[in-house]
Amino acid sequence: MTAQTHWQAWHEPYADASSPLSRRLRLVQQHIASWLDGRPDGRLTVVSACAGQGHDLIGALASRSDAQRVHGTLLEYDAGNVAAAQAAADQAGLAKMVIRQADAGQLSSYAGAVPADLVLMVGVFGNISDSDVERTVAALPRLCAEGATVIWTRTRRDPDLTPAVREWLRNAGFVEQAFHAPDEVRFSVGVHRFEGPPRPLDPPGTVFTFLAQ
Ligand SMILES: C[S@@+](CC[C@H](N)C(=O)[O-])C[C@H]1O[C@@H](n2cnc3c(N)ncnc32)[C@H](O)[C@@H]1O
Repeated sequence: MTAQTHWQAWHEPYADASSPLSRRLRLVQQHIASWLDGRPDGRLTVVSACAGQGHDLIGALASRSDAQRVHGTLLEYDAGNVAAAQAAADQAGLAKMVIRQADAGQLSSYAGAVPADLVLMVGVFGNISDSDVERTVAALPRLCAEGATVIWTRTRRDPDLTPAVREWLRNAGFVEQAFHAPDEVRFSVGVHRFEGPPRPLDPPGTVFTFLAQ
């Protein structure tokens, strides 16, 4: 038996439906469901960076009769979280879900998983430096298929970076579809549609490094 890591314990508030994390999760899942409803035909691809235990994508797909249309790749570094996500995907019968133990800050980790129709950057921008957030936003066109949607989150603790994130997204060719910033909590959830030209994944490189917690 191995000790639980910080990043496994980080998921514990999901067990409490009234926690801010659970509230954020429901918003993200609702947007995943709306995105699927808006793309009723054919095969779709999703990539999730720093996917953790996959609660958002796996949870949203578990109740969908069209889940098999979705070919998802979850990139997650922590072995215990990878195992938990794999178990959840198996339990939900999501055979087209690939869980990769990989560094999502390296563009090479996305090979074969992109261009994606939906990119999840959930729980990422609050854990990396501001300059890495800017670099990652600028790299999103390299992960996105034509017309892709990006769902992202970011804390609004002072100094609130979300105005800058929204501007960087605009500059990178994204149009805002939704932005949730409830008063009583610090999280925010953004949904942006890519309206620029997709770009190749190469050359490889580092876009972000997680800050020590
Ligand atoms: C804040 S949690 C978010 C998890 C998930 N996206 C969610 O919202 O439920 C961040 C996750 O990123 C993982 N992580 C940290 N550095 C990573 C890296 N370089 N590449 C991939 N995953 C990483 C951690 O293990 C953790 O599961």
